[in-house]
Amino acid sequence: MARLAPSILSADFSRLAEQMQAVEQAGVTILHVDVMDGHFVPNLTLGPPVIRSLRKATRLTLDTHLMIENADRFIDEFADAGADMISVHVEACPHLHRTVTAIKSKGLKAGVVLNPATPLAVLDDILPEADYVLLMSVNPGWGGQRFIPYVKNKVRALRGLLSARSCRALIEVDGGVTEENIAGLASAGADILVAGNAVFGAGDPRLAATRLIGLLAGPRA
Ligand code: DX5
Ligand code: ZN
Repeated sequence: MARLAPSILSADFSRLAEQMQAVEQAGVTILHVDVMDGHFVPNLTLGPPVIRSLRKATRLTLDTHLMIENADRFIDEFADAGADMISVHVEACPHLHRTVTAIKSKGLKAGVVLNPATPLAVLDDILPEADYVLLMSVNPGWGGQRFIPYVKNKVRALRGLLSARSCRALIEVDGGVTEENIAGLASAGADILVAGNAVFGAGDPRLAATRLIGLLAGPRA
């Protein structure tokens, strides 16, 4: 069954531990953490110290999405802080093979991220090395944006590509995931669905996560 990964970008940062526990009680096993540097994307969020604090407060898998330049410089720091998965953008990593290898050499799962306008063709060589591919379904920078519809076909195409190449990478989808589209995205082939606003923008994150997970378990998923 596909899994929900709530993104803390839309959480109340003064109550992170409490909000993490709420989604954990709903059955969540992965927490998505968005790292932005104000260069690769026009917004600033958080860095290794926050990952270190989250690590102390939870056993959830920490899925760290790096939207930063010079990712190579920070892999060790994020790994040592307690990240379990680290994904990097093909658009920001000129030496992608080196970066992916560095993540895996720390014993972490390595993800490769594609912006909405980046074609799947860039994955040709790196695909066998990636533990997961994250398809952005909004232009990265903020939570609460609208899902870009064509990305659903991209998920289907990637699922076909992975099967044709006998690759085991998981497919993660990030941006604009809601109760309306989550089941359809899982049917299209997504394994991990990130949702920020749909979980933490709601009054009750535990209930919102429970409903989204229920939709993943439903007949259409
Ligand atoms: C966007 C981030 C997303 C974001 C998703 O740049 O990478 O992870 O938090 O938030 P929603 O689900 O609100 O689109
Ligand atoms: Zn993200």
